[in-house]
Amino acid sequence: METTTRQMRIEKVSTSKIDQVDFDNLSFGSVFTDHMLVCDYKNGAWEAPEIIPYQALSLEPSAKIFHYGQSIFEGMKAYRDAEDQVWLFRPLDNFKRLNISAQRMAIPELPEEYFMEGLKTLVDLDKQWIPQQEGSSLYIRPFMFASGKGFHASPADEYKFVICLAPSGAYFSGKVKVLIEEKYSRSANGGVGYAKAGGNYAGQFYPTQLAVKKGYSQVIWTDDNTHENIEEAGAMNIFVRINDTLITGPTSDRILDGITRKSILEIAKDEGIPTEVRKITVTEVIAAAKDGSLKEMFGAGTAAVVSPISSFGHRNMDYDLPELSNSYATRLKKRITDIQYNRAEDTFGWRFKV
Ligand code: PLP
Ligand code: COI
Repeated sequence: METTTRQMRIEKVSTSKIDQVDFDNLSFGSVFTDHMLVCDYKNGAWEAPEIIPYQALSLEPSAKIFHYGQSIFEGMKAYRDAEDQVWLFRPLDNFKRLNISAQRMAIPELPEEYFMEGLKTLVDLDKQWIPQQEGSSLYIRPFMFASGKGFHASPADEYKFVICLAPSGAYFSGKVKVLIEEKYSRSANGGVGYAKAGGNYAGQFYPTQLAVKKGYSQVIWTDDNTHENIEEAGAMNIFVRINDTLITGPTSDRILDGITRKSILEIAKDEGIPTEVRKITVTEVIAAAKDGSLKEMFGAGTAAVVSPISSFGHRNMDYDLPELSNSYATRLKKRITDIQYNRAEDTFGWRFKV
């Protein structure tokens, strides 16, 4: 059935696939809902978005995405509460960051209305797909890439913006063991580290494969110049607790300005936890691990939420983090997820009703 709203053509599936999904055993980002949003940039303008059945995309072999990697994405989640109400978390921040990434990758910026109206309409249409199981949610993947053709190494003249939805369980199962990386770099000053550009992730896969072979699940990136400052993990910003102080590195050209990171910082302040935003050196973290003042390390991100790190490796040495009964990670994860799932009052104004 097709319906037309003021802005958007909606083509619905004739039969939903939802009955084929085992919502009690969801992995991360591997099953997709019935519908997706597509929006084309042609002749110098973004056209109105459309919602269509989830399907493969057809592209020219010379589409510039394949050759020059003009590709960016966002990661968000939708949550369904006990009353069947649907919520997003700070979606305007994702929209703004999408356009920051777009600008850096010479992709035309998307109008806010297309993002917000498209997102709300799509999530509302597929809301039955939002898992209600503890720890599960509907992962939302907005992305944009160069669909225009040609081998000339210059920005494409056509782009696609797409949103797909994936009912998902936890990103990590269990605690995370990380390796502090000193040879490879994720990003550099003047580079694209602050953008959510696809190539930032491709460049991490090989060093992460090497770390996985050594028994770690993630790499902790250090700055490309000295490898002495702890910056971020593959898909997370990093927090370190030394004694009672919670520390995270400042954002920069090299680090993604994570929405979870800034929310955790605000919640921590609200909880009366002393916080510092400053460079964290490998030397101080190792010294703190040795003298017992290193209490916690955790990653923070939309997919990973708050993921405690159980140990870190550095130059053939492993350092274990203590098991704490009332860790900051547990407290902060509870506070942020209670807001996201509408289990607690949102004094910050972050929750957004669909
Ligand atoms: N850092 C990187 C490299 C990421 O890919 C992500 C995930 O989106 C984050 C940090 C966390 O950002 P956010 O909390 O906005 O999801
Ligand atoms: C997210 O947290 O949304 C991300 O984008 C991480 C992703 C690379 C899985």
